[in-house]
Amino acid sequence: EQILDKDVERVLFSQEELARRVSEIAAEIDRDYAGKEPLLVSVLRGSFVFMADLVRQIHLPCTVDFMAVSSYGAGTASSGQVKIVKDLSEHIEGKDVIVVEDILDSGNTLSYLLQILQARRPASVRLCTLLDKPSRRTKPVELHYAGFSIPDYFVVGYGLDYAEKYRNLPYIGVLKPCVYEK
Ligand code: PRP
Ligand code: MN
Ligand code: MG
Repeated sequence: EQILDKDVERVLFSQEELARRVSEIAAEIDRDYAGKEPLLVSVLRGSFVFMADLVRQIHLPCTVDFMAVSSYGAGTASSGQVKIVKDLSEHIEGKDVIVVEDILDSGNTLSYLLQILQARRPASVRLCTLLDKPSRRTKPVELHYAGFSIPDYFVVGYGLDYAEKYRNLPYIGVLKPCVYEK
């Protein structure tokens, strides 16, 4: 049995459910990019756990790079202002890029990021997110790979934080409202 963190109300996706879905997404990527060598771009910090699990299930040759952006700060809603904290290390011109995110919420982060990446003339860009909260979308974003669609719960774990905590939880859980209602 999973021991629940005291701030977590309930588990939404267990370690086993996450592992199963991640390998299904990896299989889709293997199929779609056969004969190519995709570049996976992890959007730090939230996507680091998903990225690490995903790449280990991809059997094609691929490369990885990292970009850090932040818009949430310590709140539970996007500030609307996206900041590039760390840019990619490599050029992406002519590459088949897959942007890897932990969650697509308002769409602010990804729509901004996509603009920046498109301007660098990659051969293609697709978006891969583990979680999708369609009810919160204010900026339309075209998603190619999505793990789970979820209602508007504030979730943590498996890379997702609240005020930088809980990223280390191996499952995705719903945070107790008393933690952020102060
Ligand atoms: C979170 C999450 C996504 C983004 C999604 O990142 O990891 O990157 O917000 O929200 P949006 O669709 O409304 O833009 P955050 O800004 O909290 O930074 P972090 O990844 O370092 O936690
Ligand atoms: Mn993020
Ligand atoms: Mg965050």
